[in-house]
Amino acid sequence: MMKLLVVHGPNLQLLGEREVSVYGKVTLAEINRALLKEAAELGVELEILQSNHEGAIVDRIGSVRGQFSGVLINPAAYTHTSVAIRDALAACGLPAVEVHLSHIYKREDFRQHSMTAPACVAQVTGFGKDSYLLGLRGLVAFASNNKATVSPKKTAKKAPAARKSK
Ligand code: DQA
Repeated sequence: MMKLLVVHGPNLQLLGEREVSVYGKVTLAEINRALLKEAAELGVELEILQSNHEGAIVDRIGSVRGQFSGVLINPAAYTHTSVAIRDALAACGLPAVEVHLSHIYKREDFRQHSMTAPACVAQVTGFGKDSYLLGLRGLVAFASNNKATVSPKKTAKKAPAARKSK
């Protein structure tokens, strides 16, 4: 079964009570429940991590090779600052999808640049909780295709020799 790592960055443990006008009332537990439900429907397994520590996120992403097929990440504030997380994503050799609850390109100038997105195959921003679910669907589709393209080609069966007509 395909296994994916989900990473929630700093302050996302406060969802539901943090800047409700921007992020809504959804809690991290609700997002995780919705992700697990979606994952079960898609037939994939998730490991979920929330951390406020850049180094802990870098450490976890640095150990995914061989164990996971992709990374779904909301780097939160580290989106805009972290060369270390960007490099970890680029180095891990797995497809990553970046998600944001809010539409970061409609917000303050400092949020309109993502340091981490160039190390990801795609970014989903502005759909609230649904950004995670859409990101998960996209990642599963991408990782499945990716797998198909990197696995060795099946040897084509030889077509039966045409019979000579007498
Ligand atoms: C966020 C957007 C970031 O700018 C912010 O620092 C967050 C949350 C989002 O999901 O909209 O913490 O990543």
